[in-house]
Amino acid sequence: MMNKRLMIAIAVVFCLAAAGLIYFGGRPNNEDAAVGTSMEETIPAFLGVGPHEITIRNVTKKPVHYKLRAYGSDAPAVERMLLPDEIDRYPAPQTIVISYLKYGSEVTYSLFPGKPYSFRYDNAGNTDIWVGAHGREDAVDLAPYVPTPPEVLAEMCVLGQVSKNSIVYDIGCGDGRIVIHAAKTYGARGVGIDIEPERIRESKANAKAAGVERLVKFKLADATKVDISEATVVTMYLLPESNELLRPKLEKELKPGVLVVTHNYMIPGWEDKEVTSKVVLDSEQKEHTVFLYRR
Ligand SMILES: C[S@@+](CC[C@H](N)C(=O)[O-])C[C@H]1O[C@@H](n2cnc3c(N)ncnc32)[C@H](O)[C@@H]1O
Repeated sequence: MMNKRLMIAIAVVFCLAAAGLIYFGGRPNNEDAAVGTSMEETIPAFLGVGPHEITIRNVTKKPVHYKLRAYGSDAPAVERMLLPDEIDRYPAPQTIVISYLKYGSEVTYSLFPGKPYSFRYDNAGNTDIWVGAHGREDAVDLAPYVPTPPEVLAEMCVLGQVSKNSIVYDIGCGDGRIVIHAAKTYGARGVGIDIEPERIRESKANAKAAGVERLVKFKLADATKVDISEATVVTMYLLPESNELLRPKLEKELKPGVLVVTHNYMIPGWEDKEVTSKVVLDSEQKEHTVFLYRR
């Protein structure tokens, strides 16, 4: 999920579009199957992001002031103050241009219809805007969808000592690849939880293709509200503030000794529980860090 990458991509796309080179069209960011399906049906569409809508969430601890205007419009910009934890929703049949102060100077990015965005802190503690996972008002946005490369998830399972006796929970499971790998390689049972219906559909299809349907389950739900107490291994590829948010849940629900493996981001406040960390290279030789904690 290299956030810097997402930002650079947004900036590059914006520059290209500003130069008239491309047209904006979009960019970035222990139940059984039946339960997932019925929950999917009950999630009201308006809680997500419509195809002609943009949502902006404030995940920082301070109000964020920003300005908005339609791309290519000369109309005066709309000014807005977004409080922490609030979400602004805009009808957006076309690209919107957002400006705000970063490092004391105004920066401008393009936001694309159908996408959720969040103001978050960057690694240097400055407020910046990132692509999110969803625009729902009834759930936190733990991280945008960015899959863990196969080399990295394989190492996560090794560090997590996954075996046929394990029950692996992936919080924010994306396309289900971690629990599917654990099931296929080790015969482990697994539960993947994701809030995005598309991710759960992919996960179920991938589990079927891998022949591990009987070992894994996927839940369409806000992971912060799902009981994870049966897990023997937990995996997370989420943003640092999300890891921090989930820490009390991990402490409350997981049994002592359960292993928690995170990709790239540490769990703030669990420094004393960190067992080890390891740098893993993906197929493009990019470095990822895997952190192992013992609850
Ligand atoms: C960075 S991806 C990780 C995907 C997968 N675990 C992997 O490593 O390949 C984060 C996932 O968290 C999901 N997510 C974000 N907020 C969530 C929430 N409140 N509850 C459940 N899933 C959430 C996103 O939809 C996304 O698929």
